[in-house]
Amino acid sequence: MISKNLETALNEQIKIEEHSSRLYMAMASWCETNGFPGAARFLYEHSDEERMHMLKFVHFLNDRNGKSVLQALDELPSEYNSLEELFDKVLAHEQYVTRSINNLVDLCLQEKDHTTNNFLQWFVMEQIEEESLVQGIVDKIKLIGASKGGYFHLDNYLDGLAAGETAEGE
Ligand code: FEO
Repeated sequence: MISKNLETALNEQIKIEEHSSRLYMAMASWCETNGFPGAARFLYEHSDEERMHMLKFVHFLNDRNGKSVLQALDELPSEYNSLEELFDKVLAHEQYVTRSINNLVDLCLQEKDHTTNNFLQWFVMEQIEEESLVQGIVDKIKLIGASKGGYFHLDNYLDGLAAGETAEGE
């Protein structure tokens, strides 16, 4: 049985994961209409992953005799000035999600809820991967600068990531 405190906090995380899914879908849509099909594919895929994260929380909460509640949706930005700005925002968002997961772990430790803590460890590891992946993309964009050819290659690279490959491995 999960505590009311943790039930509320996990429901808040469900909202954050759902928001992440919609945020990346909106970003993918911007990429799709601004000449970056590879980035769009990458972000649509990432949007699906966030929905999977949301579902993990929903199932966990329901399995622990809690009640998952979907909350009102927040407005999303639909315009970006550049791919650079867009991926800077992805990174900032993932850093925000990491802080939120860490706060949940803190709460589990306070409440000595080892089961939920154990469940959250998957997300702790996932956030390391996600931040590192996005940081790598942001670093590549900084290297490219204003080079149009560089953006063409970056878009292909992101398409490869979406297909489950790394450009380094090709
Ligand atoms: Fe569910 Fe990208 O964090």
